[in-house]
Amino acid sequence: MRLLLIGAPGSGKGTQAEKLAERFGIAHISSGDLLRQHVQDQTALGRTIKSYLDRGDLVPDALVMDMLRKPVVAAVEAGGYVLDGFPRTVEQAQASFPTARALGAEVQAAIHLDVPSEELVRRLLARGRGSDDTEAVIERRLQVYLDKTVPLLEYYADREWMFAVDGTQAPDAVHEDIVAGLKKLALPW
Ligand code: AP5
Ligand code: MG
Repeated sequence: MRLLLIGAPGSGKGTQAEKLAERFGIAHISSGDLLRQHVQDQTALGRTIKSYLDRGDLVPDALVMDMLRKPVVAAVEAGGYVLDGFPRTVEQAQASFPTARALGAEVQAAIHLDVPSEELVRRLLARGRGSDDTEAVIERRLQVYLDKTVPLLEYYADREWMFAVDGTQAPDAVHEDIVAGLKKLALPW
């Protein structure tokens, strides 16, 4: 199964991706986690991207896509993926589509985790992941979401494989809503 999770910072992408990966035996691929790992390991990529993460700005598309190619290919061979945080712009969706199609790895369902912004800020301040969970950077990440990712939701809006769930419920209830939505799509798994 090949799934995308789309949602604002703090909407629960990581939380839900983990549950879906476990339930369906697919790989959880988080662009943000992989980027943060590069920063922590001080790789060449990590040194290049640190300032973007610290500001809450998007990392350039080519860097993110190069980083994801290998894990996505490996996941497709092993039974599927749940992508958490990619694509997050219309440009990324358009740029990655031909590669995905060539690999027979197109997404089968995209799930929008819908959570109002007051709740997002509350969750992120409570979590305090590191340099990007400060009030100023959270505000920037939310603005980037509105400017860059909301248009992606509009771009996908008429696809029959895209649906939204109420992300304000408890994590297990959100998970069950996602599974119910996937069942309606009758994906082969
Ligand atoms: P990324 O790591 O993707 O961060 P994000 O989108 O800001 O989202 P978070 O990881 O903060 O939240 P989440 O939605 O995963 O929620 P979580 O489950 O953790 O990106 C970070 C940065 O990397 C970007 O700013 C950018 O610089 C770069 N980047 C990443 N992808 C990129 C791309 N494609 N292109 C360019 N740049 C890219 O939950 C949050 C908190 O809420 C947790 O404490 C959790 O326990 C809690 N929680 C979760 N669900 C619930 C619930 N249902 N009820 C109550 N609490 C809940
Ligand atoms: Mg996350």
